[in-house]
Amino acid sequence: MTTPRKLHIKSYGCQMNVYDAQRMVDTLAVEGFVETANAEEADLVILNTCHIREKASEKVYSELGRLRVAKDEAARQGREMKIAVAGCVAQAEGEEIIHRAPTVDIVVGPQSYHHLPQLLKHAKEHGRALETEFPIEDKFVFVPQPKPDAIRSRGISAFVTVQEGCDKFCTFCVVPYTRGAEVSRPVAKIIDDVTRLAENGVREITLIGQNVNAYHGEGPDGCAWPLGKLLQRLAVIPGVARLRYSTSHPRDVDDSLIEAHRDLPALMPFVHLPVQSGADRILAAMNRKHTADEYRRVIDRFRSARQDIAFSSDFIVGFPGETEREFCATLALVTQIGYAAAYSFKYSPRPGTPAAEMRETVSAAEMDERLGRLQELIDSQQSAFNRAAIGTTVDVLFERAARNPGQIVGRTAYLQPAHVMAPSDIIGRILPVKIGSLERYSLIGELPTSPLLATPSRNLPTTIGA
Ligand code: 5AD
Ligand code: SF4
Repeated sequence: MTTPRKLHIKSYGCQMNVYDAQRMVDTLAVEGFVETANAEEADLVILNTCHIREKASEKVYSELGRLRVAKDEAARQGREMKIAVAGCVAQAEGEEIIHRAPTVDIVVGPQSYHHLPQLLKHAKEHGRALETEFPIEDKFVFVPQPKPDAIRSRGISAFVTVQEGCDKFCTFCVVPYTRGAEVSRPVAKIIDDVTRLAENGVREITLIGQNVNAYHGEGPDGCAWPLGKLLQRLAVIPGVARLRYSTSHPRDVDDSLIEAHRDLPALMPFVHLPVQSGADRILAAMNRKHTADEYRRVIDRFRSARQDIAFSSDFIVGFPGETEREFCATLALVTQIGYAAAYSFKYSPRPGTPAAEMRETVSAAEMDERLGRLQELIDSQQSAFNRAAIGTTVDVLFERAARNPGQIVGRTAYLQPAHVMAPSDIIGRILPVKIGSLERYSLIGELPTSPLLATPSRNLPTTIGA
């Protein structure tokens, strides 16, 4: 029997990369690779990179410096370690990586992960390999079927890609260049994936895509299905207790999605809806294709469909030419909407994007100052949102044993971590939890009834769906 080869993947960036890492694991499992958490002992190390902001790509080169040492050490011990760079930095800067980092054996773009075994063979037999082709018809052609064991190890919550790429071309963003044009997977394939995951114990499915609510995959009736209709269909799959989707664009919120929130208890009332700025002039310069007021109206539509809905968002401060007044419009929007959570970033020019050519830059000091003010406001909203849970009883989907012995951790509808003292057989169940306190970002609570007596009725498919 041959000893399995070891694979270590380090992922940066978005959920799509987490999902892609799993795809790479599945592809390489067929070749006899098993995952290891320790890069030093790996036969193949893959850096699954992110190009969205400057820091994200700079991290790759410093990580490659560390890996070069590990690779040399492996060679001294008579072992061969191959290093691959995958993800969006590979796609955008493939040639440069080959020049700048001689330690790298393989550079592979997100469209070509199914070629990893061949690229590895090529690297072994002929030297370094680069594949960053963009064959659109290849997208989704090969999503390997994970073995049931692999699915089980994915736990209670899993991502499923439903669309990839983006046609929006926000002027600051590399995604349309690194991930390509927007493509949706057919409904039947998604149903298959979700059914298999649910049969293997997954209770929560997050549909992912760079512009997920632009979804328009072909349905079994031959028509293009919008995201809301897809969610309606997935909600009736036995075992699916919770559905989520990410990331949405305000322009693509159609009535089907609003109706899905109105009609589906399984669809969680927590929506990530990036706005980036609260100033119309900046939104136009960003090519966001909506105004601040249009965004507010989208939020209102969600709120009228489901009153307990909460939002998170993304913001960029210091976009070229952003004035203090325009920044204040962003603060005003945040104050008005009231977010449960939000991510905020300093603008970073990305080579090849239209905004990178804009001249009116905002100074680093101003950016820091604005980011600080915005984050303070967001933090205060997030804390208030979390504190509001104290004293209430909320449904928690339990996911795993926590670090503290005897504690089990799960998530609320709003993705807040919630800890209780309980036996581990509650994992995979949704149970009501009385929240007693807040420790940093975690809710601490207790099960009002014995978990042995509590019925897991919310997990049963009959209670899910319209
Ligand atoms: N600079 C700063 N933030 C960016 N983002 C995307 N591109 C840039 C950039 N060039 C942020 C946006 C997006 C999130 C994923 O990353 O807020 O929604
Ligand atoms: Fe990038 Fe999102 Fe804009 Fe698409 S919609 S270009 S992914 S920021």
